[in-house]
Amino acid sequence: MNGLRYEGKVAVVTGAGQGLGRSHALFLASRGAKVVVNDLGGTTDGSGASQTPAQKVCDEIRAAGGQAVPNYDSVSTEAGAQAIIGTAIDAFGRVDILVNNAGILRDKAFKNAVESDIRPVIDVHLWGTIWCTRAAWNRMLEQGYGRVVNTTSAAGLFGNFGQANYGAAKMGIVGFSHVAAIEGAKANVKVNVIAPAARTRMTEELLGPMAEKLNPEQVTPVVGYLAHEDCEVSGEVFSCGGGRVGRIFVGAVPGYFNPQLTAEDVREHLAVIRDTSSFVVPRNAMEEIGLLMKFGSAR
Ligand code: NAI
Repeated sequence: MNGLRYEGKVAVVTGAGQGLGRSHALFLASRGAKVVVNDLGGTTDGSGASQTPAQKVCDEIRAAGGQAVPNYDSVSTEAGAQAIIGTAIDAFGRVDILVNNAGILRDKAFKNAVESDIRPVIDVHLWGTIWCTRAAWNRMLEQGYGRVVNTTSAAGLFGNFGQANYGAAKMGIVGFSHVAAIEGAKANVKVNVIAPAARTRMTEELLGPMAEKLNPEQVTPVVGYLAHEDCEVSGEVFSCGGGRVGRIFVGAVPGYFNPQLTAEDVREHLAVIRDTSSFVVPRNAMEEIGLLMKFGSAR
């Protein structure tokens, strides 16, 4: 079987100065992609800036014979995102792959959270993903090719104490990706999402003893596939960590049906309403609305 390679492809990886992004950038470059290594170089909470992390990853790539250029802009503004994609265009003439990975944390119980805890987290994760994708999007549509890999988190998909800001941003990324996948389909632009778990500076205190078994390099193969021409899926979410990869999806159960539905019906039929033993995974909003009719008429 042929190995996955990226010759002729230009990749942008945001937040690639360390952690997961660094691993993704090294992998793509080692398989022939020309890579823009973006990183603002701040602390985990998003304060400060430094060119060193992105520069060091570029040095590593070049030392191994690959091609890379650094970019130090923030993903969180439209101008920053345009400059990041602009770096790819100036250096390599195109953009084929965008890995939206940059991220920060400002954990706080929601009852104590103020704007400065919430807004910057949404700015980097959700707006960062939207702005960087927007900056590359029309080019991808026009060239009839693109692979966008976004980064969500179990904290948004399933919830985690103290991460209302982060959870909102990360679930926003999933909704954004569902729609972008639909809009990109005709132009062979695929948009998928990973929900990773890996030992990085962001998680070193959170993962405890599990950290030992969770290397960033065990997440990157999933990005590698989703960023490749061979990728067959779009609009999907994949949990990955420690070498495991599996789909996470939003499903709909048949539930309970009564055209004269009452509040009492909901109370009395809660078990069947919540029964997940059978379900479907709608491909878009209209399909879900169609299911209301289908489930109803089947009873
Ligand atoms: P990390 O802190 O090691 O790396 C994040 C990188 O993003 C840093 O190098 C940072 O300088 C950069 N960055 C932050 N704000 C930026 C901005 N505005 N513009 C450009 N670059 C910026 O963290 P890690 O763990 O590698 O996280 C990568 C992504 O994976 C994040 O989106 C994170 O939320 C997500 N994630 C990570 C998990 C894990 O287990 N490590 C779990 C779930 C999600």
